[in-house]
Amino acid sequence: MGKGFYISKPLGLVLFGLGVGSVLTIFALSVVYAQEKRKNEVDAIDGSRMVTTEAPHSTSAPSNEPWDKYRLPDTLLPEYYNLTLWPRLVPDEQGMYVFTGTSGVAFKCVKKTNLIIIHSHQLNFTLTSEMHHAKLTGLGGTSAPAVLKTWLRTQTQFMVIQLKENLQVGKSYWLYMEFRGELSDDLGGFYRSQYTENGVQKVVATTQMQPTSARNAFPCFDEPSMKAVFHLTLLHPPGTVALANGMDLGTENIIIDNQEVLRTRFEPTEKMSTYLLAFVVSEFTKIRSPHEANVLIRIWGRREAIESGQGNYALNVTLPILKYLENYYNTTYPLSKSDQIALPDFAAGAMENWGLVTYRELSLFYDPKVSSNEDKEWVVTVISHELAHMWFGNLVTMRWWNDLWLNEGFASYVSYLAADYAEPTWNIKDLMVLQQVQRAFAVDALVSSHPLSSNEDEVVTPDQIDQLFDTITYSKGAAVLRMLSEFLTESVFAKGLHNYLHQYAYSNTVYTDLWEKLQEVVDADSSIQLPASINDIMNRWILQMGFPVVTIDTQTGSISQQYFRIHPEAEVNKPSAYNYEWLVPITWMKSGSNMGQHWLLAKTNLYEPMKTDTDWILANLNVTGYYRVNYDSQNWERLLTQLTSDHKVIPVLNRGQIIDDAFNLARAEIINITLALRTTKYLSKEMEYIPWESAIRNLQYFFLMFERTEVFGPLQTYLQRKVQPLFEHFKAITSNWTQKPPRHMDQYNQINAISMACKTGVKECLELTRMWYRQWMTNPDSNPIPPNLKATVYCNAIAAGGVEEWDFGWQMFKNTTIATEADKLIYGLSCSKEPWLLNRYLEYTIDPNMIRKQDVTYAIVYIAGNVIGQPLVWDFVRGNWERITKDFDDGSFFFGRLIQGITKKFSTEFELQQLQRFKEEIAASSFSFGTQAIEQAIEQTKANSKWISENKAQVMNWLTKQSA
Ligand SMILES: *[C@@H]1O[C@H](CO)[C@@H](O)[C@H](O)[C@H]1NC(C)=O
Ligand SMILES: *[C@@H]1O[C@H](CO)[C@@H](O)[C@H](O)[C@H]1NC(C)=O
Ligand SMILES: *[C@@H]1O[C@H](CO)[C@@H](O)[C@H](O)[C@H]1NC(C)=O
Ligand SMILES: *[C@@H]1O[C@H](CO)[C@@H](O)[C@H](O)[C@H]1NC(C)=O
Ligand SMILES: [Zn+2]
Repeated sequence: MGKGFYISKPLGLVLFGLGVGSVLTIFALSVVYAQEKRKNEVDAIDGSRMVTTEAPHSTSAPSNEPWDKYRLPDTLLPEYYNLTLWPRLVPDEQGMYVFTGTSGVAFKCVKKTNLIIIHSHQLNFTLTSEMHHAKLTGLGGTSAPAVLKTWLRTQTQFMVIQLKENLQVGKSYWLYMEFRGELSDDLGGFYRSQYTENGVQKVVATTQMQPTSARNAFPCFDEPSMKAVFHLTLLHPPGTVALANGMDLGTENIIIDNQEVLRTRFEPTEKMSTYLLAFVVSEFTKIRSPHEANVLIRIWGRREAIESGQGNYALNVTLPILKYLENYYNTTYPLSKSDQIALPDFAAGAMENWGLVTYRELSLFYDPKVSSNEDKEWVVTVISHELAHMWFGNLVTMRWWNDLWLNEGFASYVSYLAADYAEPTWNIKDLMVLQQVQRAFAVDALVSSHPLSSNEDEVVTPDQIDQLFDTITYSKGAAVLRMLSEFLTESVFAKGLHNYLHQYAYSNTVYTDLWEKLQEVVDADSSIQLPASINDIMNRWILQMGFPVVTIDTQTGSISQQYFRIHPEAEVNKPSAYNYEWLVPITWMKSGSNMGQHWLLAKTNLYEPMKTDTDWILANLNVTGYYRVNYDSQNWERLLTQLTSDHKVIPVLNRGQIIDDAFNLARAEIINITLALRTTKYLSKEMEYIPWESAIRNLQYFFLMFERTEVFGPLQTYLQRKVQPLFEHFKAITSNWTQKPPRHMDQYNQINAISMACKTGVKECLELTRMWYRQWMTNPDSNPIPPNLKATVYCNAIAAGGVEEWDFGWQMFKNTTIATEADKLIYGLSCSKEPWLLNRYLEYTIDPNMIRKQDVTYAIVYIAGNVIGQPLVWDFVRGNWERITKDFDDGSFFFGRLIQGITKKFSTEFELQQLQRFKEEIAASSFSFGTQAIEQAIEQTKANSKWISENKAQVMNWLTKQSA
């Protein structure tokens, strides 16, 4: 996944607020973008005589030289690599952790050239016996031209070798190098992760190559279409185990410089992309699948975690997931083994390295005693997502990063299907609407959104590539592919996929290759009638940003579409070849019985079945289409009446949709805000998770905007009345909070019941959470809080408590060895109402001994989510931001999250001025990556201010009437 990745879900918890630990977010943490490191600023190849650091054009002025372009020239193609790496797990005399390596690559010359341009970043070359630090020989009897000179191009991350004569087209050569790099703790390339076990500090050497960090581990042609076979050998200390993409072929003891060293060789990989390489040296242990399984499945991690059974759930679900995927793709798992490993420090949620998938601990480990069902769902969906890539992404790979959306959107979509197979009672596929579709809508309704697909030449620098790992790529990608699969039917979709995988195995594609394969299946199947080709339908969804709101007028029977923007006055400055019109598959239902399907192919058309005076019409059944729906006011009234009289006639996903669409239409000034509020009136009868969750997410904006105003009181009173029956319902079905609700969705909704009840001041809820936490404080070894409810209970108890509660929470955080538990405590600690405690907590975030780097963003953004913490964080970040961002290699992403988290409540003129001043300060500094985030924050602040001025009086008026 994008940078593999899943962002970890805690951030989702913050984004949707309320401590409702129920949101899985799948978008990328852009982490690995390595800034130039101090020590490598010179980038000299060991300072020796022959090597110039920079090319003849050493200024940053753009030149047309091939080494100044970010893309590799099309002159050479790699065939295979022989790579040996030796990470040192103890620091050298200078206190630095290093690795050394040797690498040879066989490549073929396919176009005349006298240049070898190969990626290399932050490596020092040590082949001093050679004049030029790289040795070139011809293969198959060819003789190699002599090297003229060699240099590094820092900007484009290339090593350039200029030859005295041209290479011969059609001949192959062998380029050999020796090098040394830092095994730093920046979570990218070949890096180190640390943890303590029985009081002893342990170091793990591990990798994160996607998207552009393989070049930090060894010189390579580091582009996804430069597929090759990798022969890997690792040298590692006695007592450690070495893992890689391929199965190990055995380990032997050798002596180097009087040191005992282990040498492990691995079977050659399949032909694959560099970004999918992985290798790990650790003292980890494993559990494995029973011997009869035809694929060896192993789960690796810290000894303590594995021995206490935290890997068992992952092991149990991996086999069914692989089975499901083999069947879905109709293609056997392409490798001989499947290793999955949990790392104490990991930037993303997980990474789909072929045969050796790496995970953040909370994405792989599950402990039924302490983890929630959300944690469990997270594990099963992340595993499904990563394993889905083993075929889609790894076996067949996009030609270039501009098609990342296909890779990630696809894995995100299919992860639900596979997880549903592994956990069939959960209805997990329904969650796609909340977790992917609604999530994508939120971002895609902004004019700052972007199309799913971009041109190859718009994405060239590592920074541009990093920025693609976002919500659009993951969630809109998933939503749009789900829509496609639904209107084609799953069997047609799967058949097309199979043909695609079969035709393009071990090679690279562009998205139209998939459309073609699907079209072939459609053309051969007379039961599928499409109004246009897949290409024509789908290109409108992927080549233009945004999505439509479809308006159905039951007075006239007309259906029309309009580009939906949450801020209607914002200027659209990206022209679209399709004029922001879509080909829209419309499924509909009439008064609960009659159903139908219709394609909207123009801006507007008349469709007789939509005309009615008595029935209600509901469109976009189960929200399988990527669009919102609006109706004439009579139809809205009929839908509201149906909700109040018998809401169950409307499918549960559509009950959530009605609420979510109404609130968003109101924010876009398409319908009246009071109409949106009226969709929540029936909630006192609603016990299902999806409608509640949709309502809570939308009301979250009301809380953000009104938390500091007089509207807050009436809002609380109204919602307390709505949530009280839900709270009672859960009290009843859990026997006075002593049992877990049996259904997965109910387990989620119980969290909503408690967090909303406590938030709106239901006394019994406040007492309940305080009591639980107190009990735990009295007996720290036995936590009485049900795992599902921990996040919200910690938050509410710490908010209601003082320093004693906070310090206890902190102690538990420092003491826990369970990632999910730590995660909940990081969140809970942010809920304090004491400014000095929050300030102290903020200070801890810049001390790596207090909080792991990987968790810092979350902690800061969580604190900013607290009405009292928010101004503190704003001051803190402005005062410390160079310091905060300097240590991170994920500058832009980290900063963007941070700014968004801190400023989301901004609505006043004063706050706007502060933002503008901050923008100027940043523009004047060297951290220019922050400007975009700040511009978005400025746009958001203006919109908030406008929204408040337009809606506050009406909302206040309506809420007051409800409690009259
Ligand atoms: C909608 O989803 C539900 C599951 O939530 C499923 O039972 C039902 O068949 C779906 N309806 C349609 C029309 O696809
Ligand atoms: C919204 O509805 C309320 C009450 O029905 C009305 O007072 C108000 O003027 C309406 N607002 C707009 C913008 O139409
Ligand atoms: C429910 O639990 C609370 C706290 O343990 C207790 O005070 C109360 O009496 C219980 N109520 C019922 C009906 O059992
Ligand atoms: C810390 O954790 C250990 C083992 O998990 C436990 O035995 C110990 O009591 C904990 N310490 C505190 C202060 O809770
Ligand atoms: Zn992925």
